[in-house]
Amino acid sequence: MNSVTVSAPGKIIIAGEHAVVYGYPALLAATDKRLRLTLHIKGDLPDLNTLRAQNLAHLIKVISKLSSVKKLDIKSEIPAGSGMGSSAALAVALSAAWHKLSSGKDGAHYDVINDQAFQLEKLQHGNPSGGDNTVVTYGGWLWFRKETSQIKVFKMLANVPTIDHLYLLDTGKPTENTGQMVQQVADLRERQPEKVTAAFEGMQQVARGWLEVMTSGNTKIVPDLIKQNHQHLLDIGVVSNRAKKIISQIEEAGGAAKITGAGGKSQGSGMLLVYHPQVEKLVKANVKDKLQSVEFSEQGVRYE
Ligand code: MEV
Repeated sequence: MNSVTVSAPGKIIIAGEHAVVYGYPALLAATDKRLRLTLHIKGDLPDLNTLRAQNLAHLIKVISKLSSVKKLDIKSEIPAGSGMGSSAALAVALSAAWHKLSSGKDGAHYDVINDQAFQLEKLQHGNPSGGDNTVVTYGGWLWFRKETSQIKVFKMLANVPTIDHLYLLDTGKPTENTGQMVQQVADLRERQPEKVTAAFEGMQQVARGWLEVMTSGNTKIVPDLIKQNHQHLLDIGVVSNRAKKIISQIEEAGGAAKITGAGGKSQGSGMLLVYHPQVEKLVKANVKDKLQSVEFSEQGVRYE
């Protein structure tokens, strides 16, 4: 019997979510919350892409029933369905475990794992950019751009400055999944192309503003960049009323906030990335005690 344990981090989109699906650049970062997957097998594994499944959860069920699979165990610290990369972490960890057991090769073959994980992300979300699985595979801070569905360009950013006063805040689980949110934006783009393109162009400017933060260490512009990104996300309709209200309260108290993933329309919009230099000022907004720390991580997928 062969076995492998692999772990993969969660992620946050710092700038450019949704626009990245249409070829605009995005900035993403891996976080310290991880998913761990252990796979025990006896015999040969089939090609992962030949297994028929409707989504990742279904694929896990299909895999668990394979005669060559003795055990598949998954534990995750990443909040599910909250824009924190839980499905990308599962796709990447599963791809890495599968790759090692079926090829017998040691060491992380990041490009192979990432390409396979992208196929699984497509199964889960329909039309993903590939940014989530890429940052989860490589870790750290990543500048990412999808040129075509086959060609993605990305660069791991080195010497990223420490950015203080960042937090996470849960606005509640969205009722829509990432694929549905991406589809809603596609529908809006059909109906109102100018409006959506303007929002995407604006998000591109924000992402490029973040590059200045990354290269010059000028972190003073961070709150403004987060605010601008949020305004553009409002224009493409991916922030729920509940999340809008919370973000307005944070802004009124001198801070800034935005969603971390695909967002959500009718109830929660998942986790927010919050900037506030004096969190005591958030007491009135009833938000201070709910803030969580955010830790970024250089560590992408790894065999344990
Ligand atoms: C979801 O985490 C990020 C989106 O931009 C979709 C994608 O990039 O595939 C909304």
